[in-house]
Amino acid sequence: MADEVKRGLEGVVAATTKLSFIDGAAGILEYCGYNITDIARFATFEEVMYLLWYGRLPTQKELRAFSQKIRRERTIDSSVIRILQTCAKHIDAMDALRTAVSYLAQCDPDLSNNSAEANIRKGIRLAAKFPTIVAAFYRVKQGKKVIAPMLNLSSGANFLYMLRGTIPNEVEANAMETDFILTAEHELNASTFTTRVTVSTLSDLHSAICSGISTLKGPLHGGARAEVYKMLDKIQKPERAEAFIQRALKQGQKIMGFGHRVYKTYDPRAILFKETALALANFKKDKKWYMIATKVEDVVIKELVEKLGKPIYPNVDFYTGPVYKYLDIPSELTTAIFALGRIAGWVAHALEQYADNRLIRPNALYIGPHNLKYVPLEQR
Ligand SMILES: CC(C)(COP(=O)(O)OP(=O)(O)OC[C@H]1O[C@@H](n2cnc3c(N)ncnc32)[C@H](O)[C@@H]1OP(=O)(O)O)[C@@H](O)C(=O)NCCC(=O)NCCS
Repeated sequence: MADEVKRGLEGVVAATTKLSFIDGAAGILEYCGYNITDIARFATFEEVMYLLWYGRLPTQKELRAFSQKIRRERTIDSSVIRILQTCAKHIDAMDALRTAVSYLAQCDPDLSNNSAEANIRKGIRLAAKFPTIVAAFYRVKQGKKVIAPMLNLSSGANFLYMLRGTIPNEVEANAMETDFILTAEHELNASTFTTRVTVSTLSDLHSAICSGISTLKGPLHGGARAEVYKMLDKIQKPERAEAFIQRALKQGQKIMGFGHRVYKTYDPRAILFKETALALANFKKDKKWYMIATKVEDVVIKELVEKLGKPIYPNVDFYTGPVYKYLDIPSELTTAIFALGRIAGWVAHALEQYADNRLIRPNALYIGPHNLKYVPLEQR
């Protein structure tokens, strides 16, 4: 009987999609038919958003117009900043982002319009404002002045600029842009699935995006990045990595940034993040974080793959650890940064779901008792 239940919905095909194709055994990921390696090497994040939302690559003219629309929407007004100032200082940037999206819903002229055109307009506004909100919340928490976005910078460069107040160099800007691109879309991952579930009730895009943010926050999903970052901080030196991982495995702990529900080999995004980490290490002339991460990877592969035969390889989150260290990203922003890329996929899936909707409502196998005699409250 238990066989009827697919725990964690593993292996269940719950939707058709034209957005991403994953071959978990071969380690292949495509966005709308384009290999992720080509996308990461040649496209910009804005181009990826266009591809996912319109289903094809834009012409130069189309991309120019689309980029312009997005960049014009980067600014947040003083009412949003006031909301961020009201948020408690101890909350995660994901909580602040979710709060801001809830607030932005009421300001959006298209709030209850679920047409594809309106949803793209809302998607543009949200995707453009996400980095501004996260950077502004961080600076408010630090007691620093909020920095307005620069419209002539790429998404990645602009985000780093709003965090730091200085324009990043090209290597750093490219690394941030690559992060957004690699994170943009990944089929029916947990947060995208919840986004689609919310859309399937014909609720609005802002509500669906709040569902996505809430689901991404957990440590088994986007929150794994924060755990990887903390792990690098604890290890501190490459020569300490082996003992640290051996101890964690002996204690039965999961190593964050490893393992995947779908990939049973190297996650292709991990390979690209690893290249990005190396590029930053070389640029900064500081191999420390890269060396710690590669040592952790070697030990996990040796212990789990080679000795135990478990297909536990680095996933998309693992090499964000050294990348964020080199970019001086504070650990408290690591999960929120995931959302800055993933909003592209959430909106794309919302568009797909609205276009061909059926309420998503699975069943549960009841395993509790039956026919219990109701005992009145005063007799219990
Ligand atoms: C991603 C993840 C949730 C997938 O979970 P899942 O498909 O439900 O797989 P399970 O948790 O059932 O793991 C299957 C087996 O591999 C082991 N395993 C999975 N991930 C592991 C990890 N990161 N470290 C050590 N062992 C791991 C489990 O202990 C389990 O072993 P068992 O069969 O001996 O009990 C899981 O790999 C994980 O928790 N990884 C760490 C968190 C993370 O990096 N998340 C980001 C994902 S992109």
